[in-house]
Amino acid sequence: MGNLSLLITLNLSLNMLEGVIPSTLGNCHHILSLFLNDNKVNGKIPVQLLQLSSLSIVLDLSQNNLFGSLPIEVGNLNMLTTLKLSDDNFSGNIPSSLGGCSSLLRLSLKGNLFQDTIPLSLNSLKGLAVLDISHNNLSGHIPRFFEQFKLKYLNLSYNDFEGEVPMVGVFVNESAFSVLGNRRLCGGIIELGLPKCKETSKFTKKLHLYLIVTLIASALFTATCLAYAWCKKKRKSHLSQSSTCERHLKVSYSQLLKATNGFSESKLIGTAWRNLRHRNLLKIITSCSSIDFQGNPFKALVYEFMPNGSLHDWLHSSGNTSRLNLLQMIKILIDVANALDYIHNHCLPTIIHGDLKPTRFLGTSYQNNSTGIRGTMGYIAPEYGLGSEMTSNGDIYSFGILVLEAMTGKHPTDDIFNEDLCLHKFASRALLDNVIDIIDVNILNLYQDDRIVLQNNEENAKKIEECLTLTIKIGVACSMDSPTQRMDVKKVVRELQRILDTLENIYGTLFIIQV
Ligand SMILES: *[C@@H]1O[C@H](CO)[C@@H](O)[C@H](O)[C@H]1NC(C)=O
Ligand SMILES: *[C@@H]1O[C@H](CO)[C@@H](O)[C@H](O)[C@H]1NC(C)=O
Ligand SMILES: *[C@@H]1O[C@H](CO)[C@@H](O)[C@H](O)[C@H]1NC(C)=O
Ligand SMILES: *[C@@H]1O[C@H](CO)[C@@H](O)[C@H](O)[C@H]1NC(C)=O
Repeated sequence: MGNLSLLITLNLSLNMLEGVIPSTLGNCHHILSLFLNDNKVNGKIPVQLLQLSSLSIVLDLSQNNLFGSLPIEVGNLNMLTTLKLSDDNFSGNIPSSLGGCSSLLRLSLKGNLFQDTIPLSLNSLKGLAVLDISHNNLSGHIPRFFEQFKLKYLNLSYNDFEGEVPMVGVFVNESAFSVLGNRRLCGGIIELGLPKCKETSKFTKKLHLYLIVTLIASALFTATCLAYAWCKKKRKSHLSQSSTCERHLKVSYSQLLKATNGFSESKLIGTAWRNLRHRNLLKIITSCSSIDFQGNPFKALVYEFMPNGSLHDWLHSSGNTSRLNLLQMIKILIDVANALDYIHNHCLPTIIHGDLKPTRFLGTSYQNNSTGIRGTMGYIAPEYGLGSEMTSNGDIYSFGILVLEAMTGKHPTDDIFNEDLCLHKFASRALLDNVIDIIDVNILNLYQDDRIVLQNNEENAKKIEECLTLTIKIGVACSMDSPTQRMDVKKVVRELQRILDTLENIYGTLFIIQV
């Protein structure tokens, strides 16, 4: 089966298949849905299956005889919306990596032997609408973060949970959740008929507080003493053997003072970087300022490694790498727009990216030494060519080109473009005619895969077409020649979010029809 590497959906449910799941299924790099439920397969889940990051609709392994722990690689399935592992024989802890499956809408671990507490990392599964972990051996308190989820159904029955049942969010509606068969629970809404929770008396609370304060105070004291002793020792050893530091050259204050002309304004390139924190921006892990083996100055910023590569790789690589579908693409565009909104509108001072594009930042950047403007051909705003100062509007232009490239699969410097026809024009013409003609066929994977369903549902087909048109409109509106006519990034985020909501609703109904 592993040779069928172009499979998009594999449905083997409701058979009498035995034996183990072949690890060669890991070659089906395009697969969106895999149904193996209601068979008699046994053994462990092959790790290769969990490395199929293309899985974005369903992975259903329920009602089999699978056993062993759930491998931590499950966290790779970050596009997956439905994961069903119910009524197998899985055991061990729920791995905290499961928190990486942040697209999940439905998760069922019901009827297994999972034990211990629910990991805190599941806090990140904020989109969950359906969660069933009934009939396991889970213990500890019911996590408070479930209160914040948009859960429509939560089943915690027949476990060994203890402590208070919350009374907020899903826990308000008796028919939306179940905590039956957990003997040590208390509180919750009155309909549950559980005993009241024993209040910790004021005295014990005070005592706890006092203990904590004392503990912190003594810990601080100890830490200070240790640090003092350590510094003293360090200074001594530093004096005696200063040559050991050569391999990790550190910059001293006096060196910095000298190099920056006494921290002069003219040498300042930014003060905001340390505080830049956004989930769609890469964190700078550390910096390195040293000399290389030839004795030349060497400076580097060290970023977190992104193993899935760049958007450019996903758009233009040929061969057997899996492609992104429409839903995934819109999510990426929202992430980029959110990061832009953050650096433009929520950082002080405002930060201009200046070189937004789908590749990693290394590459053939363009730098005009006379104006100090940098950027990349194809993505650089036209006004920069006329010597304009860099503004956030310039970033919006690059974003618009990125949207159009993502949707059409056409590089802005593609051979078909010339002085008379650029990507922006190409797209805006199609808006007057037929948008579908310019959309990258790979994005339409979902659309084609589910054509049969959609044929019977013209309404959905029409909605998808509308979403495509709206997205192209955003790309065109962001890449207008005139900076002031470009769309506001906040509006971009809002409109893309609306498109995503529509698509996710369609996905939801497709799922129901398929199952
Ligand atoms: C499930 O696991 C338990 C204990 O590990 C074992 O006794 C039982 O036979 C298993 N059930 C199935 C259906 O494999
Ligand atoms: C349930 O979990 C506890 C530890 O949390 C363990 O001692 C016990 O054996 C488990 N029960 C089963 C049936 O696996
Ligand atoms: C919750 O799960 C238990 C056991 O799987 C089941 O008996 C019960 O009907 C479920 N509750 C609801 C409200 O569906
Ligand atoms: C309570 O939950 C049920 C089942 O999910 C749902 O049909 C109903 O609309 C909910 N009621 C309220 C007031 O949210």
